[in-house]
Amino acid sequence: MKRIGVLTSGGDTPGMNAAIRSVFKTGVDMDMQVMGIYHGYKGLIEGRVDYLGHADVESKMHKGGTILRTARSEEFKTKEGQKRALNVLRAYGIEGLIVIGGDGSFRGADVLSGYGIPVVGIPGTIDNDMGYTDFTIGFDTAVNNVMNEIYKIRDTMRAHDRVGVIEVMGHRCGDIALWAGISGAADLILVPERPMPWAEAADMLAANKLRGQLTSIVMIAEGAGKAEDFCKFVRENTDVEIKATVLGYIQRGGNPSAFDRVLAAKFGQRAVELLADNNGGRAVGISKNSIIDVSLTEAVETKDRFDDKLYDLNTIMAKF
Ligand code: F6P
Repeated sequence: MKRIGVLTSGGDTPGMNAAIRSVFKTGVDMDMQVMGIYHGYKGLIEGRVDYLGHADVESKMHKGGTILRTARSEEFKTKEGQKRALNVLRAYGIEGLIVIGGDGSFRGADVLSGYGIPVVGIPGTIDNDMGYTDFTIGFDTAVNNVMNEIYKIRDTMRAHDRVGVIEVMGHRCGDIALWAGISGAADLILVPERPMPWAEAADMLAANKLRGQLTSIVMIAEGAGKAEDFCKFVRENTDVEIKATVLGYIQRGGNPSAFDRVLAAKFGQRAVELLADNNGGRAVGISKNSIIDVSLTEAVETKDRFDDKLYDLNTIMAKF
């Protein structure tokens, strides 16, 4: 394979640039030309393709976001859009494609590889909601971003004897809330995987107050509800003073952690190696600290796993 393309798709995630760098460097080392496709599948359909150079990948490697930009494309979901994308790949002589993104992006990659183009997926999403891999690029950075905010919020909550509720991203997955909650010593973690009636949660906070624990930190994953709604419920049913913070996009920005950069480097290398072997239709991942690859179909069909033991550990550690 002499010429390959790389694109980023869906929500951006810290570490995407590190993955692009690894794809480029590994490709060049194998005498390949590496083309950047800008704005995800949307840009692929529109032919936004350009050569990548060493300077492109070096300058932003330590930054969040993606030098290739990203987008979500409705047109690519149609047969017409897919045909246009294939025509662009043929026109540029791109023989293999690497897609960096989440499960929606992988579904697109699976469709493209069904047309006979070798495509390899690299999991990049802060949500960590892809069951076939232990970690996705960006999750570790997002967890660290949230953890750092928890301590700031705790300071001001403690000063006022308040409960702080922190809403975090994750789509339908509670991993960011769980990992940030454990590392930030949260008292309660509300996630969609372990639904807890809000009345039970409110009773717990009221009981904490009665015992003299006036400040608590509650993590709520966006998939489990809105922080403001939860606060309203607690105010209506208890005498607990409670305030909501929605962390929003600060979770997804900023420089990637060392873990995410290393993971991105390893994923990029394996993805290019697979294309060099003409081994398309694959998704790279990490399992038990080893880099793995599975079929794209398996990657999108594997149900996400939740770490129940870690969740239960937090319940134990939150006891006071
Ligand atoms: O998938 C990543 C993610 O940040 C989710 O956690 C969140 O629900 C969603 O993207 C937000 O999407 P958008 O950038 O379109 O607002």
